[in-house]
Amino acid sequence: MIILGIDTSCDDTSAAVVLDGRRMLSNVIHSQVKLHHAYGGVVPELASREHVRNIMPVVGESLLRANVRMRDLEGIAVTVGPGLVGALLVGLYYAKCLAYVHQIPLVAINHLEGHILSIFLEKEVPLFPFIALTVSGGHTSVYTVEGYGRYTQMGQTLDDAAGEAFDKVAKILGLGYPGGVPIEKTARDGRKDRIHFPRAYLSNDSLNFSFSGLKTAVALYVKKWCNGEIENSDVTLADIASSFQESVVDVLVNKVMRARKKESVSAVMVAGGVACNNRLRTKMLEAASAEAVPVYFPRPEYCTDNAAMIAVAGYHRIMYGERADLSMDVRSKYPIQDLSPIKKTAT
Ligand code: KG4
Ligand code: ZN
Repeated sequence: MIILGIDTSCDDTSAAVVLDGRRMLSNVIHSQVKLHHAYGGVVPELASREHVRNIMPVVGESLLRANVRMRDLEGIAVTVGPGLVGALLVGLYYAKCLAYVHQIPLVAINHLEGHILSIFLEKEVPLFPFIALTVSGGHTSVYTVEGYGRYTQMGQTLDDAAGEAFDKVAKILGLGYPGGVPIEKTARDGRKDRIHFPRAYLSNDSLNFSFSGLKTAVALYVKKWCNGEIENSDVTLADIASSFQESVVDVLVNKVMRARKKESVSAVMVAGGVACNNRLRTKMLEAASAEAVPVYFPRPEYCTDNAAMIAVAGYHRIMYGERADLSMDVRSKYPIQDLSPIKKTAT
């Protein structure tokens, strides 16, 4: 079954063609990073306008690269939330038009389900049930995944997402936007234990996260550091970046391993933009191998926002017979608990 996936939830216009929910035939991503860079974050109105400009060529390119025609498509899967309303609307209405004109089944996809299922684009996949951490600029949540469409949220951030913390701290350190990659690069020359930044919620049983206190702690530290108020200091910018990164990574790894123990499942997977971070990958692998648990990371192209993961989710929902009608709307907030389960699983 050939599915076209479309995702315009934030600042990437993406379209992908996926065969049988497993094999990526194309995954085209038009990034708007350069456009938003000057503003230090995504400007919703600019994002919508840019999606309008790019949606047609991006979808066209995805069909071309996959070497399929519109009439070969057996389903269209489109992200309807969570995300920026104006941005989501562009993808949704384009998908509706295509589905109506070419009479192709259409299905509405939750972006978070896409991140959770992104691992199924890889050769090596976890067995159900497993623990999934989705960690990006907009989300930080831990789920138990019992099957396709069967997710239980066990914890989430109570304030900033981990990627948001990377972006805000990068701004404080003058490293630009988005912050994940420059912080990781800068941290390579730094000492991860030079400054002890706070690690929230490590001391109780909660599987929730909080990163806004950490961001404030870094901001206060940097202010003192710039004013020369840190005594006997040989602290470098790289030390600050590395110590900050370590604090985020420690919390993420700790909570995921706790969730695994609590649910006694035998596999863990990590997805979303922050899952590209190599320090997170290393520490997660170390912690999991100490408990003889396999950890799965999608390749970076499938960690950051992409439409291939949306096509994977769409495949399982279309196989089950799920269809969206043309009256469906976008949802800026779309908790995974609101998802309908997929009862019959595609093989
Ligand atoms: O999944 P994604 O592309 O978009 C959202 O749904 O948010 O994630 C983007 C986020 C940004 O906050 C970015 O700073 C972060 O992922 N990110 C990273 C790295 N690469 C991207 N954070 C830490 N280390 C990285 N290497
Ligand atoms: Zn995302």
